[in-house]
Amino acid sequence: MQKPHCLGLRMRRVITFGTFDLFHYGHLQILKRAREFGEYLIVGVSSDSLNFAKKNRYPIYTQTERRDIIESIKYVNYVFIEESLELKRQYCLQYKVDILVMGDDWRGKFDSLKDICDVIYLPRTPSISTTQLIEKIRI
Ligand code: CTP
Repeated sequence: MQKPHCLGLRMRRVITFGTFDLFHYGHLQILKRAREFGEYLIVGVSSDSLNFAKKNRYPIYTQTERRDIIESIKYVNYVFIEESLELKRQYCLQYKVDILVMGDDWRGKFDSLKDICDVIYLPRTPSISTTQLIEKIRI
């Protein structure tokens, strides 16, 4: 079967953002489900300094390690480092995205981008997060 772009149809481009530290099953699920909304998935992996600014701690894995892990996921087509939370609109325009997908812990936060793309919030995978994993490992 021919791929959509071979037929002259434009691929739907989906974008999502996150830290993706200590990559876990919830991360895999959001990437898999995000990709189901289109044919090309772009992921903005937040930089180490952005995480420090947000959470007052550096991620366990460096941004290079986190980027390499996300790049190796079969649902993902392109990865970049997200340097600032304020640049979401610019990234969406730059990468010509059709759909922004985020977990529903972000519900409502990106509604202001609905003038340039669809914005979809997906339910989080229950009972797992990087923070929980760090706490479990510490015990
Ligand atoms: N995510 C999800 N289900 C989970 C955990 C995360 O769908 N159980 C989604 C988030 O909603 C976000 C993306 O995965 O869209 C990246 O989330 P991230 O903040 O990197 O992961 P968390 O595990 O939530 O990290 P933390 O505990 O540090 O907040």
